[in-house]
Amino acid sequence: MIFEQIAIGGCKSYLIGCPERSAAALIDPEIRLTDRYYGLAARGGLRIKYVIDTHTHADHFSAARQIARTLEVPVVMHRCSPAPFADLRLDDGDLLVIGGMRVRALHTPGHTCDSMCLLVEDRLFTGDTLLIGATGRTDLPTGDPEALYDSLFGGILKLDPALKVFPAHDYHGRGHSTIAKELATNPRLQCRDRSAFTDMMRRLDLTAPTHVTEALRTNMSGGKTVAQLLAEAAAKTPFMSLAELKRRVDRGDADLIVLDVRERDAWSSGHVPGARNLPRGQLELRVNQELPDPTARILTVCEFGKISTLAAATLRELGFMRAVALDGGMQAWRAQGFPLARPASVAVPAPGCVDGKAGSTDPWP
Ligand SMILES: [Fe+2]
Repeated sequence: MIFEQIAIGGCKSYLIGCPERSAAALIDPEIRLTDRYYGLAARGGLRIKYVIDTHTHADHFSAARQIARTLEVPVVMHRCSPAPFADLRLDDGDLLVIGGMRVRALHTPGHTCDSMCLLVEDRLFTGDTLLIGATGRTDLPTGDPEALYDSLFGGILKLDPALKVFPAHDYHGRGHSTIAKELATNPRLQCRDRSAFTDMMRRLDLTAPTHVTEALRTNMSGGKTVAQLLAEAAAKTPFMSLAELKRRVDRGDADLIVLDVRERDAWSSGHVPGARNLPRGQLELRVNQELPDPTARILTVCEFGKISTLAAATLRELGFMRAVALDGGMQAWRAQGFPLARPASVAVPAPGCVDGKAGSTDPWP
């Protein structure tokens, strides 16, 4: 078996392949590693046939849907998965044929109702059902301590003790364990009485994972993360540097419309000299009145350089093909000590002028 374990921030994903047939499967891919998976598969001469999520992840962003759509292969999950994009839904005991390999799905609810472990030759990919020295938690949506007890003590812990255990998480840099080792040393598996085990799981009182709401939303729906949304906007938007904007402010570039897309209060507290205020939330509503010339050179500005990227991308979609976003935001502008204008103390120029020379009437009082 060709085998790669890929780790990032405590998350573990796996690329397993059949060397004779060059077919492979990707298990629990994480969104930040997408290019790495493609690179590893290419380096190994592998064609990924299936992208498998062992369960609905609450603690990281799954790349399963994105990769599967790119490669035109199925997203594989247990049949209980709430994800509408799961193409191939497995039942307990189902086999996936990947070249000469057989991947057997074992339904192991408890951490989530759609959890499954994957048995491949001498390895068990345990998702979050069994971790090294721990188990998956049972306090997140669809978690169930009773079901986890059955999945462990009535299920995978009865398998061959020599099986290697490869979990979906380990926060201590460990690669794998075995069933025998976990039975002997895993503190949570020492409570072998059902009620003692379930009581222990209910008392764990763990802190919620970071990004749990966003991870569940995106992993259950196939929707985008905020970071993905920003990355997509950035990919279709050119940027202007802070230094270039400063030069243009200094020389009074009358052709540049600086559009501050923060809320009115933020704009009033200090903005790039000559910047007009059109909050992002009103952009589509007011664009036709405020920006009548689609050929205008428009620079969007916000506090941190994120919302301005979305605004510039929106303007480009609306036909403002010279819209750009500031590479940075007002926070960075202030940190550089660059000049600020305020409506009460500074004459605000007419649209199209950034230096205040061409007009003094503020059309957005
Ligand atoms: Fe999980």
